Amino acid sequence: MFKLYQFDTLESTNDYLKEHHEAYHDKDVILTLKQSKGRGRFDRSWDSENALTFSILFNGNKNHHVFISSLAILYALRDHDIHADIKWPNDLLINNKKVAGILIEKIYSGDTFEKIIVGIGINMQMPVDEELQESAAAICQYTQASSIGILSSILENYEKLLYQDFEEIYQQYLSHVLKNEILIEGELWQIIGVNREGHLLIQQNDEEKQVISGEITLGSRINP
Ligand code: BTN
Repeated sequence: MFKLYQFDTLESTNDYLKEHHEAYHDKDVILTLKQSKGRGRFDRSWDSENALTFSILFNGNKNHHVFISSLAILYALRDHDIHADIKWPNDLLINNKKVAGILIEKIYSGDTFEKIIVGIGINMQMPVDEELQESAAAICQYTQASSIGILSSILENYEKLLYQDFEEIYQQYLSHVLKNEILIEGELWQIIGVNREGHLLIQQNDEEKQVISGEITLGSRINP
């Protein structure tokens, strides 16, 4: 069972859990109404104004949260009749515009990682920043659902996914991840899939390679 802890304001729910994880348990959820220093991937800041922002703590060292977290959001949106896709590794897009981002961080004990923090930010309304508006989508454009309604759906779907085996989860992720052309250092590559380690698989003519991490820019051509 997920247990919810709500705060009026925090700098970052991920940072809060990193600092206080000893005081919390597996599947505790830290939700804040206002996040003043939200962080995104690659040390970028995350615009948390108008967003649903929370982080979940998981004990153990399973790597499947990269897949599960995206699917839990995708299915929660589907429960509200919103169609979304996954942009590798775990951005959620509606009509090619980003509605949610996920920041997954590990807590190590010595050399082995023992806990994982899954931080989720969802645009409930459009971001205030005009530059972001071009590439962003917001939940309010598609449903009247409240933040708490969306959060409950995500947690319900997460709960179901946690009982499924890895292969089942992986196959679902694979069927929802966008397989477009992408541009890498000026060259077009075709996404052909994602492997079980979560690396992106791309192809150009007869050459195939893996992308381990990074930000990709999707092109328009989609791999059937
Ligand atoms: C990204 O798209 O780069 C990931 C964005 C993740 C933002 C969420 S908001 C809740 C949690 N706390 C943070 O500081 N970041 C994540």
